[in-house]
Amino acid sequence: MVDMDKIVSLCKRRGFIFQSSEIYGGLGSAWDYGPLGVEFKNNVKRLWWRDNVHLRDDMVGLDAAITMHPKVWEASGHLASFSDPFTGCADCGRHYRADQIIDAIWNSRWFRAFNKMLEGPAAKKDIQKAVENWIQGEGKKLAPNFPQSTLSGNIRLPLEGANDPRFIELLRVLAHSSNSNVMGFLCPNCGSGKLSDPKPASLMLETFLGPVQETATKTYLRPETAQGIFVNFDNVLQASRKKLPFGIAQIGKAFRNEITPGNFTFRTREFEQMEIEFFVMPGTDEDWHQRWIDERFAWYLKYGMREENLRLREHEKDELAHYAKRTADIEYLFPMGWSELEGIANRTDFDLKQHSKFSGKALEYFDEESKQKVIPYVIEPSAGADRAALAFLVDAYHEEEVRGEKRVVLKLHRDLAPLKIAVLPLLKKNDRIVETAKKLCADLRKRWYAVYDDTASIGRLYRRQDEVGTPFCVTVDVQTVSDDKSPADEKVTIRDRDTMEQVRVSMAPLESIMDELMAGKWAEVAQVHGIKKD
Ligand code: GAP
Repeated sequence: MVDMDKIVSLCKRRGFIFQSSEIYGGLGSAWDYGPLGVEFKNNVKRLWWRDNVHLRDDMVGLDAAITMHPKVWEASGHLASFSDPFTGCADCGRHYRADQIIDAIWNSRWFRAFNKMLEGPAAKKDIQKAVENWIQGEGKKLAPNFPQSTLSGNIRLPLEGANDPRFIELLRVLAHSSNSNVMGFLCPNCGSGKLSDPKPASLMLETFLGPVQETATKTYLRPETAQGIFVNFDNVLQASRKKLPFGIAQIGKAFRNEITPGNFTFRTREFEQMEIEFFVMPGTDEDWHQRWIDERFAWYLKYGMREENLRLREHEKDELAHYAKRTADIEYLFPMGWSELEGIANRTDFDLKQHSKFSGKALEYFDEESKQKVIPYVIEPSAGADRAALAFLVDAYHEEEVRGEKRVVLKLHRDLAPLKIAVLPLLKKNDRIVETAKKLCADLRKRWYAVYDDTASIGRLYRRQDEVGTPFCVTVDVQTVSDDKSPADEKVTIRDRDTMEQVRVSMAPLESIMDELMAGKWAEVAQVHGIKKD
């Protein structure tokens, strides 16, 4: 598995993703999509939209406003309960999610070093002494606020190795004698024992509409796109005349004042969601839920994500959101471990009922068959556009050795790749080659996003395109345009990114050949035109 630093560095170097406001030192949790990033993320969103809206006759789209009436958030339950427990360190001022504190400690620099020391020979001999030495030495740098007082007493360290799950117990013991600390744990940053008691922190980002910052003008940036769909249920129903079951899909920004954003674009305070609210007859909800779980899992596979990097995880009863009857997450094996990519929840009739109650407007459906009004149940496949893009990038990243040199290649599915074709002249000093290549590029551009590049030797140009996932390079050479020795053959070379195989084809039918290649028919094209190696 590639580590995240490599992805972050490739993204910056090749213009996929930049740190927001970088020239001012950067804003930690915000990221900007550069020239290739915006193409790539747009492709993720477009494919999602095509597959879930255009290719289905039981789905319509919506694009609701980000700011909504503040009552929406009372009705949805977000104002009362959309919060995470947070804890802060009195010594270094860092904040953490209290429910993720064990993970944060486990992954912290000081803990990893402490852990390593505990497995070493000194600790095997005399653990108490080894810990004291560590605190005076390495620990002073890595965890300057480690509660040393706890070691001056006669604490018996209860175990030998940090891999033992009881090691957390040891940490608790170590931190216990200091004044106030959350669950007896230590600060993942500085090792201090002074973590505040956990308190709920709202994830809602407030904003004020209008020039006067009064309570009356206060609203929130939506924390999920879903509510825009629920409040428009009746509008869409009347306008589209859809019958149950049917869905409303939406892609848009959402905002959450996350306590610990991080892991690149995985968790940010501003992000994009791709959500479906699928309305079904009560009683059919469990079947539909399972169908959507299967459908959404298959979607990631369809665009080339490796199956071994995907899994389903059922939510335990005690972690279900206040509105959910059952939720299954699709998880991806990100560089930091298995984490949520998409959640698929059965939201029951909770939201429509709540909005009916708070707005006074009935949000119901008239069932022709039973001649009765029903409140539909809702199945919600809710994906993150940024998270999906990150997972596709991580999954596509490969390092290979080609003739003794490292080749970095993004094996992105053709439909996801930001650039589809690069047109490259073999010799940039030959006017005829350059002119032909530029014209070819302009023609291809009418159908696919193609670029012309002559800023390096052909080998380097290929590698550059490999690194950004361009599926096909088209090369124009001397034979294409003729020279003193031979007449023009009017053929170009097409190179496949993943296999580096090449075929030489006539320029005239290039568009129809490209059509075949974009449909994944390299083998068929190669059979007709023959393969030559890079
Ligand atoms: N309407 C349901 C809902 O919002 P969620 O599990 O909180 O459910 C759905 O969010 C998806 O949105 C997640 O699976 C993830 O892909 C994305 N997402 C949530 N919070 C995010 C954040 N802080 N940064 C990036 N993506 C996020």
